[in-house]
Amino acid sequence: MTDTVLEVRNLKVAFPCPGGVIRAVEGIDLTTKKGECVALVGESGCGKSVTAFSIMKLLRTPPSVSRIDKLQLDGQDLSHLTERDMERIRGKEMAMIFQDAMTALNPVMTVGKQIDEVYRRHGKLGKREARRQTVRALELVGVPEAKSRAKSFPHELSGGMRQRVLIALAFACMPKLIIADEPTTSLDVTIQAQVLDVLKVMQQEHDVSALLITHDLSVVANMADTVYVMYSGKIVERAPMRELFTAPQHPYSLGLLASVPKLSDEKQSFVQIPDTVPHPMHKPSGCYFHPRCSSSSDRCERHMPRLEVGANDRQIRCWHPLHQERET
Ligand SMILES: Nc1ncnc2c1ncn2[C@@H]1O[C@H](COP(=O)(O)OP(=O)(O)OP(=O)(O)O)[C@@H](O)[C@H]1O
Ligand SMILES: [Mg+2]
Repeated sequence: MTDTVLEVRNLKVAFPCPGGVIRAVEGIDLTTKKGECVALVGESGCGKSVTAFSIMKLLRTPPSVSRIDKLQLDGQDLSHLTERDMERIRGKEMAMIFQDAMTALNPVMTVGKQIDEVYRRHGKLGKREARRQTVRALELVGVPEAKSRAKSFPHELSGGMRQRVLIALAFACMPKLIIADEPTTSLDVTIQAQVLDVLKVMQQEHDVSALLITHDLSVVANMADTVYVMYSGKIVERAPMRELFTAPQHPYSLGLLASVPKLSDEKQSFVQIPDTVPHPMHKPSGCYFHPRCSSSSDRCERHMPRLEVGANDRQIRCWHPLHQERET
C-alpha cells in the first residue's frame, strides 16, 4: 500500500514552431501524496500550465509533442488511456480549477445545472438528489443563499463567487487529485485569501491531494506542504514548504522569496530578480538561470547541473547551492 496519488516521471513537452522548437517542459518528475498539497511555483512562461494540462491529458497534439515515462494516478497508468477513458477520469478522479472561471464555466447554463451534471454523470444521481447535493456543495464553499444562487448564470456572480463555484465543481465527485492553476490570480487580495481558505479547508477535510500552481510564493505559504520550483522548463528545487521559506538552496528560489514583500518591512521594499526568463526558443547554455544569477561561474555557463537528491528528500539543481538560513 502506498499513499502516492500522482506520479509523473520524465515529462517532456515541446512545441515545434516556425524558426525553432519551444521546449516548454524538459523532463520533470513530480509526486503528490494523499492529503498533500504540492505547489508548483515559477515565473510566467516556465511551463507550469503545460505541465498541468499534460497531467490532465488536455494538451492538443499537434501543436504539442510530448513524451512521458510514467503518468500514474492512484496506481492507475494514465499514459496509454484514450480520450474516451480520460473523459471518465476527468471530473471524477482528478479535476482542475482554472484561473479564469468565466471561461471555465459554460456562460449559457446556470451554475447549479453545471454542478448537477457532474453529480448526475459521475455520481449517477437523479435530478432532485443531484440538485440537493449541488446546493450542499455550494454551501460548503461559502456561497450564501446557495439554493437561489444555483439558478444564476456565471455572469450574474462576482469573480470570487464564480471561483467558489469552480471549487464546488472540482470537489463534486471527491476526486483523488485537484489541480488548481493560478486559482486566485484574477481576484483582488482579500477575496483571494477567502477563496484560498475555502480551497485549503476542502482539500484538508476530504484528504484530497492537490497540485497548486502559482507564480506567487506568498500564495503557497499557508497552503503547501511541499514546493517544486520550476525555471524555464526544469525543476530547480524541491523542498518541504517550511524549509524552502527558511533555507532555500537555489538562488532562483531565494530570488522568488525576496520578491515577496515582508509585513515587518515598513517600507515594503522588495528585491527583484534581475532580467527576465530566457526566450523559450533561445535558452542559454549550461544552467538556464546563470545569466541572472549572482553566484554564476564558468561551470554554470557551460554545464547544466543535475537534479541532486539531498537530505530530507530535498532536490536541488545548482552548482553552488546556498547553505544559509534566511531571515523571515
Ligand atoms: N500552444 C502553444 N504553442 C506554442 N507554445 C506554447 C503553447 N502553449 C504554451 N507554449 C509555450 O510554452 C511555454 C510554457 O508555457 P506555460 O503556459 O506552461 O507557462 P506558465 O508557467 O503557465 O506561465 P504563466 O505563469 O504565465 O501562466 C511558454 O514559453 C509558452 O509560450
Ligand atoms: Mg500558466
